[in-house]
Amino acid sequence: MTLDAASMKKIVAEAAVNKYVKDGMNVGLSTGSTAYYAIKRIGELVESGYDLTCVATSVQSEELARECGIKVVDVDEVDKLDVTIDGADEVDPRMQLVKGLGGALLREKIVAAATVKEIIVVDGSKLVDKLGTKAPLPVEVLRFGHLHTKYALERQGCKAELRMKDEEPFITDGGNYIYDCRFDGIDSPFFLESRIDVIPGVVENGLFLNTAVDVLICDENGEVRHMADTTPKPEELPVR
Ligand code: A5P
Repeated sequence: MTLDAASMKKIVAEAAVNKYVKDGMNVGLSTGSTAYYAIKRIGELVESGYDLTCVATSVQSEELARECGIKVVDVDEVDKLDVTIDGADEVDPRMQLVKGLGGALLREKIVAAATVKEIIVVDGSKLVDKLGTKAPLPVEVLRFGHLHTKYALERQGCKAELRMKDEEPFITDGGNYIYDCRFDGIDSPFFLESRIDVIPGVVENGLFLNTAVDVLICDENGEVRHMADTTPKPEELPVR
């Protein structure tokens, strides 16, 4: 039997929580349709007696977590997060990621940076040979001067489109805009990131490089596999 996308997301999110979340941990809560199932499962663990302290990556996830009875604190109230269970929009063979189609990339990146074990959960549709071939790269930008930021983004070789919601520009939890940058594949993610990060007005980009310590993937039969990243990648060292 071939599973639908929602079933695959549920299976993989629950598998990750069951494997990586232990009693007493500080846990990061991601945003999106796969993270939804992780938060629900974490809620069940709390209900069963786990003492977890959680940090949410969006207002939406915080609300869901509180509904599930999960204790949510500000990220600055913890010295680190033991584990974060996070979704992704693209995963390449080296576990490099594009994230942010859910609009939470800024907080997700801050939480990921404060996390010891960043665990990614996806269905097979998110796997790509090269980043930027399926999903656009979301870039969060200040509203002030955003058209000039867009022009600078497009000089990096993409078509940048202002994200809209209900015929208005989409506003992030940080009060910013997002440009979805459509590349014809990203050949050198570290180099591109270094170019994007120095553009005035850019707040954060959706490349999550050398961030994941494990990626769990659910296939259409409901089987979950782990992606190991043991390959040395000297040519991918950051340029900056
Ligand atoms: C949120 O901003 C994103 O980074 C999500 O983690 C990503 O878009 C994956 O979302 P889904 O699990 O809904 O596909």
